[in-house]
Amino acid sequence: MTLPLSPTDGVDQTPHIDLVDPQLYATGDPHAVWRWLRRNDPVYWHEPSRGMPGFWALTKYHDIVSVLGNPEVYSSAEGILLRPANHGRDPGGGRTLALTDPPRHRQLRSVIKSWFSERAVRQLKPGIREIAQTLLEDAAERGTVEFVNDVAARLPLYVICRLMGIPDSDREYLFGITSRAFCSEDPDERRSSHVKLMEYLLDLADEKRRAPGDDIISDLSVAEVDGHRLTESELLLNCDNVFIGGTENVRIAASAGIHQFLQEPAQWQALRADPGLLPGAVEEVLRWTTTPTHLLRTTRTAVTIGGRTIGEGERVTLWMPSANRDEDVFAAPDTFDIRRTPNRHIALGTGEHFCIGGILARAELQILYGELAALFDVIEPAGEPVLLSSIVVNGPSALPVRLVRTAQR
Ligand code: HEM
Repeated sequence: MTLPLSPTDGVDQTPHIDLVDPQLYATGDPHAVWRWLRRNDPVYWHEPSRGMPGFWALTKYHDIVSVLGNPEVYSSAEGILLRPANHGRDPGGGRTLALTDPPRHRQLRSVIKSWFSERAVRQLKPGIREIAQTLLEDAAERGTVEFVNDVAARLPLYVICRLMGIPDSDREYLFGITSRAFCSEDPDERRSSHVKLMEYLLDLADEKRRAPGDDIISDLSVAEVDGHRLTESELLLNCDNVFIGGTENVRIAASAGIHQFLQEPAQWQALRADPGLLPGAVEEVLRWTTTPTHLLRTTRTAVTIGGRTIGEGERVTLWMPSANRDEDVFAAPDTFDIRRTPNRHIALGTGEHFCIGGILARAELQILYGELAALFDVIEPAGEPVLLSSIVVNGPSALPVRLVRTAQR
């Protein structure tokens, strides 16, 4: 059991620490555990647990930033998420954008980075707004919706489908399989749905290789890295990386942000009254929700961090929501404040692997919240939210809300 600790205590009591218990994130209080670790053992050796191997757990902002900024020592090529000890090396290791180190990483990234530039996202904005308006009009008709699936999951999915050259007619099929792949409680269903997604992407990538169009999959299918075309499996793994990257975190951040606004209606009303607060509000939503729960790196050499020596080839985990509540960096870190400034959160990562879709994610969240604020006078809970039981991403998997249009009041 995790001991409840308030922001002001926790120095003396040692909580039960099991960061790989998925229930901690569904029904527990992970921030209490991270707060204790930041104060008492910021470079913590986590014993093997629940089939996971042992690993170092870093919880302080500056330690995490220094790891992310040093790919020479902290490699992504062995995988960026904890895996059960008997699952072996991540099959994407050294091949997928997120799972490569420089110099290959930079070459791979340059193949697709123009799709996510400031300029490219500016051109996408009218289309994103149109999608958001359609989804919200539909939600308004119904009055009560399950926000995660009815709105937050569909917006980024429809946008990434356009960027990847996926026909509109296939969106609903992809919505169904990705919802099951990410949100099903049943691990077998999660796995089989992910296989279906891979099969779909493989067929599409084959088509694009034969007849390239103007989209990300086509660019990846004809690109050369180190003088060679990507193999079929490299192409597939990178399509999967972009597709999942482009959907999962936005879905959860958008929903978790609304979940927070439901608890702080005065902040929502302030945002409605002054749309100029939108960019700062989205930054605070990103900090507050920090949807990637952990990232992993593997040391290439022995290294000392926070006074602890870590050997070569060891797993170093970075607990991202903890970094974004570090009291040495953020004033009143446990207060949600849409006017917070400065706000140097690292929800989108930092360094070599900084989220390639960061500008897009910010645009999607700003447009969605802007349209919500304009269209609805009232957003209120319509049932209990359900939180994901996962050590990879954290936030709601279901959030029933009632929406009342501004004009109706
Ligand atoms: C709120 C939304 C998002 C959050 C919180 C988020 C978070 C992150 C983080 C923390 C990383 C760094 C991983 C690492 O250092 O190992 C990352 C990388 C990445 N993200 Fe995002 N992301 C979001 C939205 C997006 C979107 C919209 C896309 C669109 C395709 C995307 C695609 C990617 C990709 C492909 C990478 C790997 C980049 C690389 O390794 O060079 N993400 N993201």
